[in-house]
Amino acid sequence: MKQTLTKMNIANKRILLRCDFNVPIKNGNVLDETKIIESLKTINYLLEHNCKIIIMSHLGRVKSEEDKLLYSLKPIIPILQKYLNQEIKFAPDPLAEETKNMALNLAPKEILLLENTRFLDIPNKLESNLNEEVAKNLASLGEIFVLDAFASCHRAHTSVVGIPKYLPNCIGFLVEKELEILNQTVLNPTHPFTVIMGGAKVNDKLNIIKSLITKCDHLLVSGGIANSFLDALGLNVGMSLKTEDPKITYELKKLMYDHKEKFAFPLDAVVESTFNKEPTLKNINQIEDNDIIKDVGTKTIKKYQNIINESKTIFLNGTMGVYEEIPFKNGTMELFNALKTSKATILIGGGDTVSALNNLGFTHVFPYISSGGGATLEYIANGSLPGIDAISEEEEIEILDL
Ligand code: 3PG
Repeated sequence: MKQTLTKMNIANKRILLRCDFNVPIKNGNVLDETKIIESLKTINYLLEHNCKIIIMSHLGRVKSEEDKLLYSLKPIIPILQKYLNQEIKFAPDPLAEETKNMALNLAPKEILLLENTRFLDIPNKLESNLNEEVAKNLASLGEIFVLDAFASCHRAHTSVVGIPKYLPNCIGFLVEKELEILNQTVLNPTHPFTVIMGGAKVNDKLNIIKSLITKCDHLLVSGGIANSFLDALGLNVGMSLKTEDPKITYELKKLMYDHKEKFAFPLDAVVESTFNKEPTLKNINQIEDNDIIKDVGTKTIKKYQNIINESKTIFLNGTMGVYEEIPFKNGTMELFNALKTSKATILIGGGDTVSALNNLGFTHVFPYISSGGGATLEYIANGSLPGIDAISEEEEIEILDL
C-alpha cells in the first residue's frame, strides 16, 4: 500500500503537487474540464490544511518551439480560479531562480502553477528523459511531493518519477481512488468478467489484450482491432483500418487459437465504400474490396448485448465504430444503452471512450470512469506503473510491546 495524503503531516507545508491537466484546448479555451475537476479534491484538502501549493502538469506532446505556442498551461488558470475562487499565480519557467523565489515566498493557501513541464524537453528532453538534476531542482520548490496525476503514471518522466526520490512523498486522492477501483474491479473481478475492446490500432492494444484474455471470460472486439482479427481469420475487410504488420497478425491468430472460446467478433457491419458514401449493412463475410467498416451491425449489437446482460464485471475501452459520424454512431449508442441497464460493475477507461460518452449524452451515467488512458491500460496489463512505483510505501505503524 502506497503512502496516502491523509497519513502525511502536511499542515502549513509547501506541497509540490503533480496533476494531470492534459486537457483538450482550442483557441485558448479548455474544451473538457473533467481532469481539472478531478484534481480539486486533493487541492481543496491541501488548502484546508493551510498548505502553500505548487502545481505542475504537462500538456500535449511538445516536440518543437512551435508546439510551445499551442500547449501553454495558461488557459488552465481561469478554470482553477473559477472552481477555487482564488487567484492562481503563474511561473513561466519552472527552473528559473524567480520561480524558486515565488515558491519559497508563497503564503499559506496560495497556489502557484508552473508552466507545462514538457517545455523542459526543448531542446534537451529534460522532462521525458528523466533528468536527476532537474528533478532535484524541482524538488527544491517544495517540502512534500504529492502525485495526483494518475493519467501520467505510466510515464517515467522527471516530474512524475524523478522528484519523489528527493522529497517525502505520497499519492493524492485521485490516484488513491483510481488504484482502489482498478484493483477491485479489473484486477480482482467478479465473474463472468467481460472486456469490450475497441479502438483504431490493434498494435497499441496487443499487450493489454494478451493480459486481459487470461483474466476475462469474454473479450468483445470492435473497430480497427476487430478488423485486424477478422483479417487474421482470413475474412475480407476491404479498405478498413487494420494492422499491416504480419508479426502482429500472427500473434492475433495465436491468441484466437489459444482462447477461441473467449473471443466475440462482429457478425455484421455498417460500411461505406470508396465510391459510395451511403451507409450499408452487410454480413461480415460479405465485405467487398472497396468497403470500409465504420460501425457494427444489428446482429453484432444483439450478440454483444446478450453477453453484457450475463456479465458481473465489465471493462470498456474504446467504441464500436466511428461514432463521431452520425450514420455510424448507432453501435456505440446501443452499447452504452446496454451497459446502462446492466447490473454489472462497469469500469470505463480511455480518453476516447469518455469523449464518446459525453458526445452521445451519457455524461455522469457510469460511476467508475478512469481518468487514465495509457496509464489505465498499462496498470491493468502489468499491475504496476512507474509513477506509482516511485512513491514510498505506507509506513508501518510500530506496535509497541508494553
Ligand atoms: C493522457 O492524457 O493519457 C495523459 O495525460 C498522458 O499523456 P501522454 O500520452 O501525452 O503522455
